[in-house]
Amino acid sequence: MRIIVPPIKSQGIKTKLVPWIQALVPDVSGKWIEPFLGTGVVAFNSGFRKALLNDTNPHVICFYQGVKNREITPQGVRAYLEKEGEQLKKAPEQGYAHFRAIRDRFNVTHDPLDFLFLSRAGFNGMMRFNRNGEWNIPFCKKPARFSRSYITKIVNQVHDVACLIQPSWKFTVGNFEATIEQAEKDDVIYCDPPYIGRYVDYYGGWTEESERKLFDLLSTTPAKFILSTWHHNDFRRNPFIDSLWSRFNLVTRDHFYHSGGKIENRQSIVEALAFNFETNVGQHNYGLCLKPEQLLLCENGAESITQQ
Ligand SMILES: C[S@@+](CC[C@H](N)C(=O)[O-])C[C@H]1O[C@@H](n2cnc3c(N)ncnc32)[C@H](O)[C@@H]1O
Repeated sequence: MRIIVPPIKSQGIKTKLVPWIQALVPDVSGKWIEPFLGTGVVAFNSGFRKALLNDTNPHVICFYQGVKNREITPQGVRAYLEKEGEQLKKAPEQGYAHFRAIRDRFNVTHDPLDFLFLSRAGFNGMMRFNRNGEWNIPFCKKPARFSRSYITKIVNQVHDVACLIQPSWKFTVGNFEATIEQAEKDDVIYCDPPYIGRYVDYYGGWTEESERKLFDLLSTTPAKFILSTWHHNDFRRNPFIDSLWSRFNLVTRDHFYHSGGKIENRQSIVEALAFNFETNVGQHNYGLCLKPEQLLLCENGAESITQQ
């Protein structure tokens, strides 16, 4: 499976988990609904003709809306990155002065191309906003960041998503509730909410109340759903697995989040998918192998999935 990688980056990006998630997606005739779109990597690999895609972060939605409307094109992105990349290379403080200039401009104008620049020139591909909604990630300290090959890579990513976004895909900015409430029987909802205690920012505050509200909505939706959450790490277990999500089917799998400034956010975690439909996980995940205390369904030999 060729994974479509989006042009926008974020620390919670699910690129490596896409095959695992997609293997579980049921065959439905309705829409793909994603209330927590983030970079869009799961939606872009969903293959659905109809989609409802939402996030509280207006910048990701504005960027993809711009691609859909053809206001943002691969050619336009190339011209923009070549120009700004040249200035970055020559700017004082090893490029930092120009990074700051783009950041300050973005914080005023919210230009989607400046947003792309910050996403691709920020430290470790992270995205975070302060309480005023301003970009809050420092420069990656590479003045020659936008090399010819890097620009081509980004331009190709924009091209890929431009080809995938269908005219009937709807993008909205808002809270997850209104998006989930629109789901109908033949739709599938994929939810990837912020994980409590990790990467809190202006657009991503997440509380116990939010988790319970999400649980209530998913418990009563007529649609099928898949929820991404964390199961446990080396130190503790996600309490909401026992109190909420274990009422649904669960599969788990080891995962390592590569980016993140905080050392605790770089550790490996066991990811979980909770879902409200029957499935043959074995059939979806290339057979069974045994590990201590767990039945693992191995994917590509190296990766694993556990049905609980
Ligand atoms: C973990 S990220 C999603 C990552 C995405 N699956 C990806 O692979 O890039 C969670 C997203 O939920 C958004 N978000 C946070 N609170 C929200 C809310 N109450 N309603 C809708 N979206 C929210 C954040 O802005 C963030 O983009």
